[in-house]
Amino acid sequence: MKRTPATFHVKSFGCQMNVYDGERMAELMTAEGMRAAEGAEDADLVILNTCHIREKATEKVYSDVGRLLKREDGTKPMIAIAGCVAQAEGEEIARRAKVDVVVGPQAYHRLPELVRTAGEGRLAVDTDMPAESKFSVLPARRKVAPSAFLTVQEGCDKFCTYCVVPYTRGAEVSRPFAAIVDEAKALVDAGAKEITLLGQNVNAWAGEDDGGRAVGLDGLIRVLDGIEGLARIRYTTSHPNDMSDGLIAAHGDVEKLMPFLHLPVQAGNDRILKAMNRSHSRDSYLRLLDRVRAVRPDIALSGDFIVGFPGESEAEFADTLTLIDAVGYAQAFSFKYSARPGTPAATMDGQVPAEVMDERLQRLQSAIARDQSAFNARSIGQRCDVLIERKGRRPGQMLGKSPWLQSVHIECDAAVGDMVTVDIVDSGPLSLAAVLVR
Ligand code: SAH
Ligand code: SF4
Ligand code: F3S
Repeated sequence: MKRTPATFHVKSFGCQMNVYDGERMAELMTAEGMRAAEGAEDADLVILNTCHIREKATEKVYSDVGRLLKREDGTKPMIAIAGCVAQAEGEEIARRAKVDVVVGPQAYHRLPELVRTAGEGRLAVDTDMPAESKFSVLPARRKVAPSAFLTVQEGCDKFCTYCVVPYTRGAEVSRPFAAIVDEAKALVDAGAKEITLLGQNVNAWAGEDDGGRAVGLDGLIRVLDGIEGLARIRYTTSHPNDMSDGLIAAHGDVEKLMPFLHLPVQAGNDRILKAMNRSHSRDSYLRLLDRVRAVRPDIALSGDFIVGFPGESEAEFADTLTLIDAVGYAQAFSFKYSARPGTPAATMDGQVPAEVMDERLQRLQSAIARDQSAFNARSIGQRCDVLIERKGRRPGQMLGKSPWLQSVHIECDAAVGDMVTVDIVDSGPLSLAAVLVR
């Protein structure tokens, strides 16, 4: 029997690039004439846009598929596995879980065709990394949130020894300058006030401007700065080694570039950093942050940390804690090391026991929480702009973001998408409270 799904639902896991890809897949299916379902439970086609970064993330896919195949009403949706698990496991997923489509992150523009194949009862797998770019065939952006993502760079050539991204996303590729500027303008026309430029190594972006001159991310940001109606520019995620002088300078003089920098360091000990193949040292990282702070003293700093990398001793872990003390992060993400099949670290000696990792993660997270609370408390008394992103939980309450990416609660009648000026009056561990300046 031929199956033609009428409704779809996309569920994205993992990083912001997956969120972006998920939005583009939804736009693609809409352009095909399908409707967005209320949720995964009542969609004819469910696209699970997966993440492979840690074991837990990957296992989630299989439990989700299991749940979808046991719907209370007895219906069975067509299931497509997209994203990094699709790329890493390919047809293997179709064998392990009963799914209909497997599509990698560089091939999802071919989804409509794959869904048709699956509709005819054949397994549809596409994990190619084709030379043609998916971006050139995806439909135009139409309706977006006030804060929108824009992928400008994909893939990674860094090969940190613990990480699957170079394998799941392929080599570093920068999208062309003109295509990015066009998409940024389309996003602003569609309602975006803030654009976050995305890439696994976004600060490695390189291109040529309209005049054929070589430009880096800073040059691109300076051009986007000129787009009328765009109020804020952010970018993530950056690698310390690709932080150019120009990009640092941009933090000092590009008004729309927000005072926030997510710059993962992973660990504070040089031997561990070397074993991770991070190609920066503790010192070079700290000196880099000093230079950014010199041009933008109020910058909010963020990072990523891994605890329990193979061979990490207690003393080496303590170096990560002292690095955190030295930086004073405004926020940070931290993870227990997860051995990923096929990566060099997975077979290294000295795998750290789970309970040691648990204990280290707890200590690290309380240090981060302490600094985040302190950073938030220092915001009290500040006057700043907030971009309203959604309604708060309480009636009459709206939620937005400060320039430093803090969540701000405001009792006011502003609408989603408004930029309002506020005074920060209170702070908590994860958010701020503010009143409107009349
Ligand atoms: N390109 C970015 C983000 C990569 S993935 C960067 O280099 O910073 C996001 C974060 O996941 C990484 O920064 C790292 O902290 C974490 N991560 C990656 N692989 C991991 C693994 N095998 N185990 C635990 N955490 C991991
Ligand atoms: Fe992974 Fe390292 Fe590349 Fe980041 S820089 S995506 S951690 S390999
Ligand atoms: Fe996960 Fe792939 Fe992003 S592994 S973190 S979804 S690049």
